[in-house]
Amino acid sequence: MRIIQISDTHLSPGKPHFADNWAPLAAWIAAQRPDLVIHTGDVTVDGAAVEADLSYCAGLLNELGIRWLAVPGNHDIGDARRAPQPVTAERLALWRRYFGPDRWIEDVGGATSGWRLIGLDAMLIDSGEPEEAGQAQWLERAMAEAGERRIAWFLHRPLFLQGPQEGDTGYWSVKPQPRGWLMAMLRHYRVVLVASGHLHKARNFDFEGTRYVWSPASSFLVGTQPEMPGDKRLGAVLYELGNGAFTAEIAEVPGLNQYWIEDVKPEVYPRPAKTSG
Ligand SMILES: [Fe+2]
Ligand SMILES: [Fe+2]
Repeated sequence: MRIIQISDTHLSPGKPHFADNWAPLAAWIAAQRPDLVIHTGDVTVDGAAVEADLSYCAGLLNELGIRWLAVPGNHDIGDARRAPQPVTAERLALWRRYFGPDRWIEDVGGATSGWRLIGLDAMLIDSGEPEEAGQAQWLERAMAEAGERRIAWFLHRPLFLQGPQEGDTGYWSVKPQPRGWLMAMLRHYRVVLVASGHLHKARNFDFEGTRYVWSPASSFLVGTQPEMPGDKRLGAVLYELGNGAFTAEIAEVPGLNQYWIEDVKPEVYPRPAKTSG
């Protein structure tokens, strides 16, 4: 089975700053003839505030004419405990209206040699939203019922930057406490692959027998980031899942313009106006 992971497309009908990177990405996806496309979030520029961003981007994914699944990013549904756009039940409901469930299971192949792909809503993690506990219980069950299937996780935010023992990296990776819980589950069930986005950096590495893939963005690079591994490049990821084996390759996508967010940030993500009173 051939899967393409794309991430951080950051598209919007009202803010077309990165819009011309969609056509080359869509053409490249079509040429690879994948069975499934998985988008690991930040589909939109600002779906958390602008519903038209969500509807427009879901329409673009549908136009691919290829089956797709997506998990939300912070720009799509807001972020855990983060002003001015916390994740809320309303924002989750809007995501589901256009993109379907924010967490999902996709079983591929047979029960003894196949795969269980699990999409996680990383924005719920450490959010305190009622759905956070619901997702945790759902994940426990999804893992326990995977049987002999190999397990792969897809989520927007990486579990860690340097290593699972690191402290709080703030915006950039999962918080230490939920990370500990997720790492324990990952080790217990021997998760084979963890695929994420969010960092706008490309990285493909093994750690304790698990492959971690940071999908590059297709939209823009980020100049100002804390010290962390990974390559500042745009692109996508190509997976081949077989019986008991897989390959993951970070791919060059011809025709992508190398935008930098700092060049357009005041226009694309203006600082929220201070409210008085
Ligand atoms: Fe992003
Ligand atoms: Fe993000």
